[in-house]
Amino acid sequence: MKDAAHQTIYLRDYTPPAYLVDSVHLTFKLSATATRVISRIAFRPNPDAKTGNFVLQGEDMTLISAKIDGSPITPDLAQTELRCDVPNAPFIFEAEVEISPSTNTALEGLYMSGGMYCTQCEAEGFRKITYYPDRPDVMAVFTVRIEGDLPVLLSNGNQTGLGDGWAEWHDPWPKPAYLFALVAGNLVAHPGQFTTKSGKDVALNIYVRPGGDEAKCAFGMEALKKSMVWDEEVYGREYDLDIFNIVAVDDFNMGAMENKGLNIFNASAVLASAETATDADFERIEAIIAHEYFHNWTGNRITCRDWFQLCLKEGLTVFRDQQFTGDMRSHAVKRIDDALVMRAYQFREDNGPLAHPVRPDSFVEINNFYTATVYEKGAEIIGMLKRLVGDANYAKALDLYFDRHDGDAATIEDWLQVFEDATGRDLRQFALWYAQAGTPRITVTDDYADGTYHLHLTQETPPTPGQPDKAPLVIPVAFGLLNDNGDEVLPTQVLEMTQSQQTFTFEGLASKPIPSVLRDFSAPVILRHDRSNAERAFLLAHDTDPFNKWDAGRALAQDVLIGMIRDDAAPDGAYLDGLAAVLRDDSLDPAFRALVLSLPSEEDTAQVLFDVGHTPNPTAINRGHEALKLHIAQHLQDMLPRACADMTVTGPYTPDAAPAGQRALGNAVLSLMSRLDGGRQASQQFAAADNMTQQLGALRALLQIAKGEAELAAFATQWQHDRLVMDKWFALQVSLAAPQLATSTAERLTRHPDFEIRNPNRFRSVFGGLKANTAGFHAPDGAAYDLMADWLIKLDPINPQTTARMTSVFDTWRRYDADRQDKMRSALQRIAQAPDLSPDTTEMATRILG
Ligand code: TRP
Ligand code: ZN
Repeated sequence: MKDAAHQTIYLRDYTPPAYLVDSVHLTFKLSATATRVISRIAFRPNPDAKTGNFVLQGEDMTLISAKIDGSPITPDLAQTELRCDVPNAPFIFEAEVEISPSTNTALEGLYMSGGMYCTQCEAEGFRKITYYPDRPDVMAVFTVRIEGDLPVLLSNGNQTGLGDGWAEWHDPWPKPAYLFALVAGNLVAHPGQFTTKSGKDVALNIYVRPGGDEAKCAFGMEALKKSMVWDEEVYGREYDLDIFNIVAVDDFNMGAMENKGLNIFNASAVLASAETATDADFERIEAIIAHEYFHNWTGNRITCRDWFQLCLKEGLTVFRDQQFTGDMRSHAVKRIDDALVMRAYQFREDNGPLAHPVRPDSFVEINNFYTATVYEKGAEIIGMLKRLVGDANYAKALDLYFDRHDGDAATIEDWLQVFEDATGRDLRQFALWYAQAGTPRITVTDDYADGTYHLHLTQETPPTPGQPDKAPLVIPVAFGLLNDNGDEVLPTQVLEMTQSQQTFTFEGLASKPIPSVLRDFSAPVILRHDRSNAERAFLLAHDTDPFNKWDAGRALAQDVLIGMIRDDAAPDGAYLDGLAAVLRDDSLDPAFRALVLSLPSEEDTAQVLFDVGHTPNPTAINRGHEALKLHIAQHLQDMLPRACADMTVTGPYTPDAAPAGQRALGNAVLSLMSRLDGGRQASQQFAAADNMTQQLGALRALLQIAKGEAELAAFATQWQHDRLVMDKWFALQVSLAAPQLATSTAERLTRHPDFEIRNPNRFRSVFGGLKANTAGFHAPDGAAYDLMADWLIKLDPINPQTTARMTSVFDTWRRYDADRQDKMRSALQRIAQAPDLSPDTTEMATRILG
């Protein structure tokens, strides 16, 4: 179908645009099936360009008319492009096109959601709105007129005119087309106000559809104000328009989008109330609001030259939102959460067929590269850079970055150059982090004699698709030493690894020390460090670095699990006693204790087993996890009721970190208790809960032990009118079904009247839930693979972007036994061979099949 869209694009082929745009005037005459878009674009030849061909992108539209400098023209139209002859001087291009928002189910370009018009233009959606040079290095000033019989008409920038059935907007900041946005509908505003540090007033609004969502905006508004203050205080960045609007949309492919002055959010990423959102939802919403707001400087004022540079804005903005969450809540807990995300998603990606560099060098469909590698590993690279140059140099480099590149479409080379210029440091080897895919393995050995301790580190990165040979990276290894009383004898210092093998020497030690390696998860690597359970239990008890304290418990849990799964071993008492000690240690943050109490996921265990050369058996892994949870519950039995009671939060609900931590520990304890009391306590909590965290925590504890049928029904009755809560209801019963029931539960829910294939949140609830049920997804009969493939094939013509992303549920197929491999591969092949499969999903299925 779209041949042009199947082509591979290479970073090395980048050429500057042939024509630049000075200004764009757009008029929208809104109509559900026949919106007219009238454009008037001032072009001029780019003096730095190599070719002079005038080519505009445009898809899924009907050209009504076109003019150059006022004279009608008949351009050459191809499936995805418009070409015509143009003067070799500045000129005005005008076009009128017709598009159909109501039949646009891909949720890219101008589409409709719940009766409202909205847009999503990143990465290449603007070309579905009108003919345009749809590439991020073409930046222009936009003026927009919207005509439509709707009460709220919004676009980027400041409002410059408003009348009956029309509104005009002007955005003074030149921007690429991917940051364009338009929203129109019957909406209500939750208003707010902010005064910037230099005294400029900014009107803030969160827009929702009337009918209940108005009551869920207050938290998002506060999060926005906190983000604005934080960016002023920490990065010196002020907001730059008179107005900042956020709109909540039900149908959205991702979390949210940073369109200039008009952020559009998946409703799930902005709307929250105590009754309907969990503490985790509140934290996620605060982070996403911050993330999109921070893009105003890292993404919008300084954008990307081309889509290969995506990590320039995403890695940096994720890093900034992580810093923000750490500052708002707990740095220790946030670092652990981020490491969990890296290991669960990015390591999985980096160690499978989808591995790619943080800055990829080729793609077919850029939407397939909004990945954990680009976002999360991209953020880790910045964290490493900051650790290597130090806080003061980091601040200096960032100031230089904003100074030098404001208004630019920049590259990773530009980014590294400011660090070189600000610090005098040579970053050529460090730059490999952007180009080399794969997770480095660091092997740790050590020796001690006569007061001298040697730490031997080796690094090795396994081959990834297209990159058989790997070079050594610059790896900051934060490191400390404890003595056997648990006192720190060497406070944290950063060791810089630059070679394949290195030895670090520490002298003057009174006795053989206990090393604490990769503190604070100082690099996105897998540590291979053979050590005894006793040593791990010691670090769980004594490490002064909270990340490594937690990680020692995690490694211990993983060893215990693997022993149980492979050798039917009994769980090590040192682990169980270690958990008891942490649980009763009131000096520790409850949120931290909850993290220590939680086990690695079954997917984690599969990954670890595979990494050490074993074929994971998801059924056996599930049994091992269930058995260990019961052991833990029994071992801690006497402490649980007291721990649960201690975590009772008094007073009205707030989503703040402290009470949220108490509820997290309370729910972790409740989940253990339910394994002993048949869910009695959980049923009570469910009945008494006045907030979603406790209601859902109780429901989860019940479903985990195959109880909770009545509660599940009551939950549906209570929440049937709340889409976001019902998403949880759909997801929970699939993800927590007994493995042999997971597929039939998912299948049954696809026939539920409220299942809606066109709504990505609902689709992800059911099928993301199925993936999350690891043993159910990998049930030996292959039924889950088949159901997943059936539905991805059904979704593809409706929404290729979401289909393509979800195809990655199959990316672990090579890990498993021959029978599962066959079944997963044939499900994938069935997807790959579906008639008229989108380029998006074709690219994913092909890469995964390898
Ligand atoms: N730039 C957005 C963010 O990270 C991501 C995003 C939102 C997106 N919607 C999208 C990316 C659609 C691709 C397609 O904040
Ligand atoms: Zn982003």
